[in-house]
Amino acid sequence: MSIHLQPLSGPLSVPIPTGVEEGEAISFRNIGVSYADARGEPVAAIAGLDLQIEPGTFVSIVGPSGCGKSTLLRVLAGLVTPVTGEALIGGQPAAGTARRLGFMFQRDTLLPWATVADNIRVGTDLAGLAPAAARARLAELVEFIRLQGFENHRPHQLSGGMRQRVSLGRLLAYEPDIYLMDEPFGALDSQTKSAMGRELLRIWAKFRRTVIFVTHDIEEAVTLSDRVVVMAARPGRIVLDQRIDLPRPRDARTLRKDPKYRDLVDVIWQHIETP
Ligand SMILES: Nc1ncnc2c1ncn2[C@@H]1O[C@H](COP(=O)(O)OP(=O)(O)O)[C@@H](O)[C@H]1O
Ligand SMILES: [Mg+2]
Repeated sequence: MSIHLQPLSGPLSVPIPTGVEEGEAISFRNIGVSYADARGEPVAAIAGLDLQIEPGTFVSIVGPSGCGKSTLLRVLAGLVTPVTGEALIGGQPAAGTARRLGFMFQRDTLLPWATVADNIRVGTDLAGLAPAAARARLAELVEFIRLQGFENHRPHQLSGGMRQRVSLGRLLAYEPDIYLMDEPFGALDSQTKSAMGRELLRIWAKFRRTVIFVTHDIEEAVTLSDRVVVMAARPGRIVLDQRIDLPRPRDARTLRKDPKYRDLVDVIWQHIETP
């Protein structure tokens, strides 16, 4: 399949007005986050967390429920203000750079009444593209996410995997530098999940954006990532930062037989807290 995504792979015809350049490092420095509990007392959700992510890296975050994975993404997006430390993108406070972040969640956030095309158009609108450029990009994206013929379908007429493809299309439409993915394939059956993993790797190999991918699935994390960061709870902190130096391109089925892959999965399991 030939893919012509010139506006996405090259410079934008209509630049997004933001101070942040492509490909900047992310640093979390001494991040502490507190939430109020039911009695209004502060509870440390994350404490003393340091994490540095080089541009273009695919990093997964794993750890038990409640260890602060989603909170960490929210800090980067400026949706939660840490009580200690700071999150930086390219040395600048991350909170002011939300335009460059692309979010994807377990439950799609598509507009239920809007067609596939209109949902992706939300992304081209965010990118501020002129109508002709927006139309061209929309057509490229629909082809890229393999949903030709479904442009006029609404989310309820699509499978879970197809809805997440639309979410990916919308995310790609506004060309974020950083993809924040919070268990994006967590609700899919295992076959669809691995197909979506392949799609994501194809996208990542093409655009080389930074990905922070939260998942409960350790094998998925190892298959996709350059690094897997393991968090533990109370307070949320990092207990392992594991490099995944398996060669790419990767194929999930071949990997499963690779002893090095098995060892990596095993090491990560050993660091996961069991309640
Ligand atoms: N808005 C909130 N108010 C109070 N407590 C919260 C809020 N959001 C998260 N928490 C608490 O902070 C901790 C971390 O939550 P979260 O980041 O959602 O964890 P994870 O994504 O790893 O499951 C949990 O103990 C959770 O109950
Ligand atoms: Mg979460």
